[in-house]
Amino acid sequence: MTEQFDKYVHELQEAMLEGYSEKLKNEFLNPENLGKIDNPDSHVSLTGVCGDTIEMYLSIKDGKISDIKFMTDGCGPTIACASYVTRTARKMSIEEALKIKPEDVDRYFDCLPEEHKHCAVLSVVTLRTAISKYRNELKNK
Ligand code: FES
Repeated sequence: MTEQFDKYVHELQEAMLEGYSEKLKNEFLNPENLGKIDNPDSHVSLTGVCGDTIEMYLSIKDGKISDIKFMTDGCGPTIACASYVTRTARKMSIEEALKIKPEDVDRYFDCLPEEHKHCAVLSVVTLRTAISKYRNELKNK
């Protein structure tokens, strides 16, 4: 029974991931930086056109992203895109991190399926918004 159930789950997973590149599948199944940061320097929550939400947490030291985490209720590609974006931004200066583009994410994953291009946009916009919020709060201190 357990064997049959495992087989069913595996087949279901394969069907869900059809059309995804190997890199996209691997990132979705092994995401990095999932979680929250206590007392972050910035925290934002953004909901995309599809209704999926990404929350992002940043710790910033000397103008560099020293820690970054995310949470999402989104689809596999959203998890993969946010994982890639947070991994790439970690240890970057905030100016460098602002240069990450949705096209970079799309290229990294060997072209996201058309209906999931906006997952890359949501991930990048969430990062940019978290950085902007941090900068605005610095200005107002
Ligand atoms: Fe909308 Fe992934 S399907 S962010």
